[in-house]
Amino acid sequence: RPRVLSGIQPTAGSFHLGNYLGAVRQWVALQETHDAFYMVVDLHAITVPQDPKDLRANTRLAAAQLLAAGLDPDRCTLFVQSHVPEHAQLAWVMNCLTGFGEASRMTQFKDKAAKQGTDRASVGLFTYPILQVADILLYQANEVPVGEDQRQHVELTRDLAERFNGRFGPTFTVPKPYILKETAKIYDLQDPSIKMSKSASTPKGLINLLDEPKATAKKVKSAVTDTDTVIRYDAENKPGVSNLLTIYSTLTGETIGELEEKYTGKMYGALKTDLAEIMVEFVTPFRERTQQYLDDPETLDAVLAKGAEKARAVAAETLAQAYDKVGFLPAK
Ligand code: TYM
Repeated sequence: RPRVLSGIQPTAGSFHLGNYLGAVRQWVALQETHDAFYMVVDLHAITVPQDPKDLRANTRLAAAQLLAAGLDPDRCTLFVQSHVPEHAQLAWVMNCLTGFGEASRMTQFKDKAAKQGTDRASVGLFTYPILQVADILLYQANEVPVGEDQRQHVELTRDLAERFNGRFGPTFTVPKPYILKETAKIYDLQDPSIKMSKSASTPKGLINLLDEPKATAKKVKSAVTDTDTVIRYDAENKPGVSNLLTIYSTLTGETIGELEEKYTGKMYGALKTDLAEIMVEFVTPFRERTQQYLDDPETLDAVLAKGAEKARAVAAETLAQAYDKVGFLPAK
């Protein structure tokens, strides 16, 4: 079986619809066909200041949401990044292979650093993509299921894998991004020119999966569309409607073409009312299942402990090879 690896940050609390449609949904599907490794990236989370109590709670919450979304610990390896020390260890080696200028060109770093003021941003934020490189290479992943905003980090991973292999001999699998065109970028409901995100979206533009379903329905109903009246997919000229059609199509399995036909001659209001209902049907059981996992922290922690053990077995082997290749003296 080919291998996939991906990760999600625990910082936000509730996952948002972009996280789910852009990434987590694919994770669930891929566990059936791939040897799948998925993790909650708490090491990445501390690149910006975190309250320790919140971080711990949010890490469990992220794991609970992943299980609620359909990850099955019998079909995939689910773990917490800090439970596998090899991530930080390989990241150091990769840091030393990365050019300062190369790291400076990472657009997510530039955006996040600009927001905090470049002088205040941590060095951890600067090397964040390189830790992600280590995450991926440790598992010899063939594919990395993510949203569009992570493409550059996967490209960096490819570059560094090739660089390492070229310098020290074949060691790492060169991974490919696994990005579904349709859901690569889910847009803000109030401003469909920006991606839905915790940091940039206004509360009305952001669908949190754990919000009160009624509030979610309301947000869908007040989504920004356009002054035209035709319900048709046209990402360039009708980004709001197109985003709603993407969400609708992905959640129901109806194709965009089928939806266009279904809503011929109907008003935007009809589309939004139906989508609001579909969203409610989706988030209601999701919230309940998440709560069930949270109510049983012992079982949750046991799942994560077993996941970490399985992950470590793979990660330790790769790290040992990499350490040997760079010339570290074996500890006997
Ligand atoms: P994070 O936690 O920001 O987001 C998790 C996943 O959600 C996707 N995503 C979106 N997809 C479509 N539309 C959106 N509006 C949207 N917003 C978020 C992201 O692309 C991502 O796939 N650096 C990563 C975590 C990470 C990782 C890794 C990923 C750490 N190590 C190794 C893959 C492999 C991040 O911050 O994702």
